[in-house]
Amino acid sequence: MSHAEWSGAAKFTIDGREVVGYKGETILQVARREGFNIPTLCYHEAIAPYASCRLCLVEVTAGRRTKLVTSCVYEVAPDIEVKTDTEKVMRNRKSVLELLLARAPDAPRIKQLAAEYGLKRSRYPLVKNDKCILCGLCVRACKEIVGANAIGFIDRGAERHVGTPIERASERCVGCGTCVYICPTSAISLKDVSAPMLGIHDHPYDYEAPDCSVCGEFGLGSEIASPSQVEEGGDLKRHQGKGIKK
Ligand code: SF4
Ligand code: SF4
Ligand code: FES
Repeated sequence: MSHAEWSGAAKFTIDGREVVGYKGETILQVARREGFNIPTLCYHEAIAPYASCRLCLVEVTAGRRTKLVTSCVYEVAPDIEVKTDTEKVMRNRKSVLELLLARAPDAPRIKQLAAEYGLKRSRYPLVKNDKCILCGLCVRACKEIVGANAIGFIDRGAERHVGTPIERASERCVGCGTCVYICPTSAISLKDVSAPMLGIHDHPYDYEAPDCSVCGEFGLGSEIASPSQVEEGGDLKRHQGKGIKK
């Protein structure tokens, strides 16, 4: 039966255990529901998957063909066999982590994952040390959850980074903090408002912001510190993506 010919529920196996998935579900969704551990960085259940980090690799056998797939976008089908921890899976995840370590060696989550996979250092030369792994979660969250579309990817190659259009404060930004909250590598910090590391950090959060478009709570203007308050060590009380499960 081809993937297109079935509907409803599909029985298949993950690491030898029979599980049930539904049409349109991904391997990652079923695996998490069933308690299997598959690491992710660019995935969040509230946002359409984009498969940029490749950490969620698993091995899938469909018919006589076995291949590595990114489980956050690969849809389940009847009778497939999924393996989450074969030697090949672990070796490839380790390679992915080496590349990420070469870009964001100081990101706590990357360090933690590297340690879990027995990696002390990367074979690759340091590309850039800014914690951002270009996973795009913040960009997608700002667009899909908040609806502000205030940030995006800028430049190409080694210069690619996240920022606001023309790298100036964006009037579209409602200062909700969702991008800060959802970033898996702690690359966005509200205390970086006045630092030119990422365009998003340049926002002057001293205007009257509207109510949060996610939960509708308080006008955020009173909760937001201006860059001068930040420089003076002001207390940054933020909404931090309230209502969004991490
Ligand atoms: S703080 Fe601004 S840039 Fe970040 S998610 Fe909210 S609206 Fe978007
Ligand atoms: S700032 Fe964080 S969420 Fe945004 S692309 Fe970089 S690592 Fe991903
Ligand atoms: S979580 Fe699947 S590619 Fe990043």
